[in-house]
Order: sequence, then C-alpha cells, then structure tokens
Amino acid sequence: DPDLIAAGEKVFRKCKACHQVGEGARNRTGPHLNNLLGRRIGQIDGFKYSKALTEMGDMEKSWDNHSLSDFLEAPKGYAKGTKMAFAGLRSPEEREAILAYLAQFSE
Ligand code: HEM
Repeated sequence: DPDLIAAGEKVFRKCKACHQVGEGARNRTGPHLNNLLGRRIGQIDGFKYSKALTEMGDMEKSWDNHSLSDFLEAPKGYAKGTKMAFAGLRSPEEREAILAYLAQFSE
C-alpha cells in the first residue's frame, strides 16, 4: 500500500537521528535497519548492543511484525535495559506505517 509506505517514511523521521536504512545504510548511534524482518535480534556485526538485546538474540529470537510492534511501542518495556533512547510509538497507526516502510528494505 503506497499510502501506508509514504506515511511510514514520515514516521521514520523520528528514527533517522540514530538509524539508517536502504542502500549504503551503515551503523550509527543505532544499527542499520536493512533486512530487519527475520533478522536475529541484536546480532549485527560491529554494533555494540546492550546486554538486553544481545541476550534476546542469543535465545534465537528474531524480529517479526509482532515483536517489532511491541518493541517500538515501548522499547524499555519490551527490552528492559535497552540503550535505545526512544520513548516509543504509542499510536498503532504509526507502528503499522513504520513496519510497512521498513518491510521494503527486507528481502
Ligand atoms: C535498536 C528501530 C529510534 C537508537 C533498534 C532496533 C530496532 C530499532 C528494530 C533493534 C535492531 C537489532 O536488533 O539489530 C528503531 C525505529 C525507530 C528507532 C523504527 C523510530 C521509530 C531510535 C532512536 C535512537 C535509537 C531515536 C537514538 C536516540 C537505537 C540503539 C539501538 C537501537 C542505540 C541498540 C539498542 C540496544 O542495544 O539495546 N532500533 N529505532 N533508535 N536503536 Fe532504534
């Protein structure tokens, strides 16, 4: 849905200070967000994660629409001890839109 993706691109403005996505995306304050769907939590090479996210990945947990929505709604509630300094996206519409936007950069 192109409208949803366009809405998601706007929501991504809230993430851009720390994250890159798309061609040439690199780790910044946060890890790059390419191929996020199905990606093991906290396992991008060369990025130093909190213990909270590293341990979730060590337990073989991966990102999917459900876990991403829960994390983005309240990062510190979903992953106690995360160093992602972001209050969260309270609106379900914003979460749906950002997930549609990020899905474009997943295989
Ligand atoms: C981690 C998404 C906003 C800093 C993550 C992860 C995702 C994500 C999916 C986990 C990645 C992985 O497991 O490899 C987003 C989205 C945002 C957002 C969609 C906007 C809605 C921000 C902002 C900052 C930030 C504004 C900086 C102020 C970080 C950091 C981590 C992280 C430092 C690593 C967390 C840790 O190791 O505990 N983000 N993020 N993010 N993000 Fe964000």
